[in-house]
This record gives sequence, structure tokens and C-alpha cells, in this order.
Amino acid sequence: FSAFLTDSFGRQHSYLRISLTEKCNLRCQYCMPEEGVPLTPKADLLTTEEILTLARLFVKEGVDKIRLTGGEPLIRPDVVDIVAQLHRLEGLRTIGITTNGINLARLLPQLQKAGLSAINISLDTLVPAKFEFIVRRKGFHKVMEGIHKAIELGYSPVKVNCVVMRGLNEDELLDFVALTEGLPLDVRFIEYMPFDGNKWNFKKMVSYKEMLDTLRQQWPELEKLPEEESSTAKAFKVPGFRGQVSFITSMSEHFCGTCNRLRITADGNLKVCLFGNSEVSLRDHLRVGASEEELLQIIGAAVGRKKRQHAGMFSIAQMKNRPMILIGG
Ligand code: GTP
Ligand code: 5AD
Ligand code: SF4
Repeated sequence: FSAFLTDSFGRQHSYLRISLTEKCNLRCQYCMPEEGVPLTPKADLLTTEEILTLARLFVKEGVDKIRLTGGEPLIRPDVVDIVAQLHRLEGLRTIGITTNGINLARLLPQLQKAGLSAINISLDTLVPAKFEFIVRRKGFHKVMEGIHKAIELGYSPVKVNCVVMRGLNEDELLDFVALTEGLPLDVRFIEYMPFDGNKWNFKKMVSYKEMLDTLRQQWPELEKLPEEESSTAKAFKVPGFRGQVSFITSMSEHFCGTCNRLRITADGNLKVCLFGNSEVSLRDHLRVGASEEELLQIIGAAVGRKKRQHAGMFSIAQMKNRPMILIGG
């Protein structure tokens, strides 16, 4: 495996998350402030050619999974073309997208044809009125349609991301689990994480332990499933149900020890940790004509500075980071 993508703790980074846009057609409370965020001028965002150049380089060095994020990746006009071009990269085994689901039913057939292999959809409530409150826009039925389209087209499991917030949707955990009885979903309950402008506080976070207790009261037979080594999610299943439920425990039990992820922001920065604020502009180096070797030196140096683990939720809540919308998860 490439030395450039191996950090000082021996972690090999084979998973790259690329943000395709800073824009979104929703305004989720946990992701950005109501007024939105200042956007980067178009000229400073990565072009499609630059995205593909970087993807090619990372795949050559051993990345075998790329996930496209945003903002909302499905509002980038050439998203289908980007997936198709990534699909041609030898060595890339998985191309995923994390989407809010609004445009999914419409675009999924083309995306699938282009080579999209994995799909994660954000959905935080099953109550339409509450959906509008959380995301500050309409669209609940579009998202449900997207989820059903993904199942119909054979994606399995279809992952549903549910950010759990006290006082908002923690009363819906059992309803989400019930969805997995008949549908091949992986419902992932995510601990609420602090990012700039999202008004996080400890009391609003519902911990993994607390969620698990709630589920066990209803389904004591809940069974632990094995998961891949570098998975973000701890997986469970109610015996007999078609789908499963998982927990993404970034705050109460981080999984940094097996982290294999790197990120490229829409404005072309390499971000070696979701909660790291030391970034390096790959865009600037590309635009002055850096050679592959030079780019790899820069990438290698950044990966080499990656910390063993994030600083803990209270420190993270204090530090300067980006708002989530400008990272992509
Ligand atoms: P898979 O690629 O299917 O494993 O999904 P994923 O969980 O990596 O990605 P997704 O975009 O669906 O994100 C789900 C949640 O996991 C979001 O809240 C992300 O912010 C969080 N997440 C994704 N990658 C990381 C990571 O490297 N570290 C931490 N702490 N959280 C992450
Ligand atoms: N805490 C936890 N998860 C978050 N996401 C967005 N903001 C937060 C947050 N503050 C999740 C969304 C999306 C994924 C990319 O990140 O649910 O599915
Ligand atoms: Fe990796 Fe940073 Fe996430 Fe930990 S917090 S798993 S080091 S990206």
C-alpha cells in the first residue's frame, strides 16, 4: 500500500470522500445555520477535470472506494458523468453517494447505469411536518420515493442516515427500527456531532448506549452483527427482520483507530480528519502545474500529520472547523 497514504499510526487510507458541491436544496438544522453559509466563488471550486485527476491519483495509490458527498451531490449537473468516469478507474471497487434523497428517484436509474454501487440517504424523521421543521424545506415524500427506488433497483442494503437529536426525533427510534422489518434497509442512528454554526450541545446528543437501551426494551432479542474493520457503524438486527440497524458513535465511542478515510472539499482542500482543521489546498498545487510526484509529497505530508484520534466532543465543539455543509460528512 502507498506510503503516501499511510499515516504515522500505520492507518492505510483506502477510502476517499469527495465533495462535489457546497450547495444544497435543503437547510438541515444540524448541518448549517438558517441563513446558509458563504459560498466559495465558482472559479475556486474544483472542476470536473480536476476532480478526476485527483481521483485517478488516489486510486493509483491504493484508494478502492470513493464516496461523493456535498452539499448535496445530486445537484451537481454532471454528477452522472462523474460517476461514469470514476467507474473507468481500474482498482476502484466501490463508488458511493451520500444524498438527501430529494433528486434520487429521478437520477438513480442513470447513476446506476453509470456504475454507482452504494447509496446512503439522509432521513431524520418519519413525520412529514417534522421533516419540514428539521430540513427547513419540503420534500419528505420525494425522499421516501428515493429510498423505495433504491430498493427497487437492487441496492442492498440501502443505508438510511438518521441524526438523532434530543427533543426532536429521539421518540422515533422504534418507528425507524420497525421499518427494517419488511424493508432491506440499514437504518443508521448517528450521534449528533458539533460543527460550526450547528448549535450543538451535549444535552441534545443522544448517546449510543441510551439508544441501544431504548431499542432493547422493545426488542430484547436484538442481535449484534459483525462489521467490517473500518466501518463507522456498529450493526444490530432484530432476528427475523429483513433489514438491520446501526449506530454511528463518533462522540461516545469513536472509531478513529481504524480510520481509513480522507476527504477532498469542493474547494479542493485535502482534509485528513473530519474534525481536523489543518487542511492543504490540492487545487492550488494542481493549478500551478505540480507534478504527480509533487502532489504525492504534499498529500503524504498532510496524511503524516493526521492525529491518532479526534480531540473529544467538548474540544471539538470549541474548535474552529467548517460547517458540515462545507465538509460533506
Ligand atoms: P459507508 O461508506 O457506507 O461506510 O458510510 P459512512 O458512514 O462512511 O458515510 P456517510 O456519508 O453515510 O456518513 C454517515 C455518518 O458517518 C455521517 O454523520 C458522517 O459524518 C459520519 N462519518 C463518515 N465518515 C466518518 C469518519 O471518518 N469519522 C467520523 N467520526 N464520522 C464519519
Ligand atoms: N452530526 C451527525 N451527522 C451529521 N450529518 C450531517 N450533519 C451531522 C451532524 N451534525 C450526517 C447527515 C448525512 C451525513 C453525510 O452526515 O445525516 O447523512
Ligand atoms: Fe477518522 Fe477523524 Fe473520523 Fe476519527 S474523527 S474516524 S480520525 S476522520
